[in-house]
Amino acid sequence: MGMIVTIDGPAGAGKSSIARDVAKELGFAFLDTGAMYRAITWGAMQAGIELSDVVKLVDYAEHARLAWHDDRIDLDGEDISIAIRTPQVTANIRHVADPPEIRGCLTRQQRRIAEGRDLVTEGRDQGTEVFPDAQCKVFLTASPQERARRRQLQLQAAGREVTLNEVLVAQNQRDLEDRMRPVGRLRAASDAVVIQTDAMEAEQVKDAVLDAVRSCMEKL
Ligand code: DC
Repeated sequence: MGMIVTIDGPAGAGKSSIARDVAKELGFAFLDTGAMYRAITWGAMQAGIELSDVVKLVDYAEHARLAWHDDRIDLDGEDISIAIRTPQVTANIRHVADPPEIRGCLTRQQRRIAEGRDLVTEGRDQGTEVFPDAQCKVFLTASPQERARRRQLQLQAAGREVTLNEVLVAQNQRDLEDRMRPVGRLRAASDAVVIQTDAMEAEQVKDAVLDAVRSCMEKL
């Protein structure tokens, strides 16, 4: 069995870029599980599936072919890396992320992807539900204000002018949905190393995660 490093945390804590960098540094594979939830949401919307129809959504999720190529994600052969990041997809994700049946389907896929690999996987439930026996668990977090500030900077860099308050309102809504779902809700595993990143630069966060991983490796 390979080594599994889980990185969970709320939206805007910088998980994706840190997890990607950490995976590269360790020579591990990388899995962005939020992109899987986004891909199924986007694909179901494109296919005209009624998003409240759990049976149809599960069937869709079971047959969707996801493939990764470096930083890209393909769905049924189409590059959807950009399409899955729109506010419309984000607003509809709860239809895919809430029902336990769909989570079960994606959980099985995530475990299959991990088979025989050293993997850094990031999301909300990786250390709690999907890989409860992972050798190393990290929970990355930051205050709502700091996460919103970082998100606003990202959006501005992409040419979108939004006020801090607009970002905060949308983020609070997502935090609430992520923390309240009955299965797979956002929380730190009891054995996770919690890193509070408010006062840290990205490079420092990466080093802190790498330190946590190395100390887990020493205990193996
Ligand atoms: O990490 P992200 O913002 O791309 O994730 C998008 C949404 O997907 C997030 O708000 C909740 C859901 N998600 C989830 O329920 N479980 C995961 N492991 C990852 C993401």
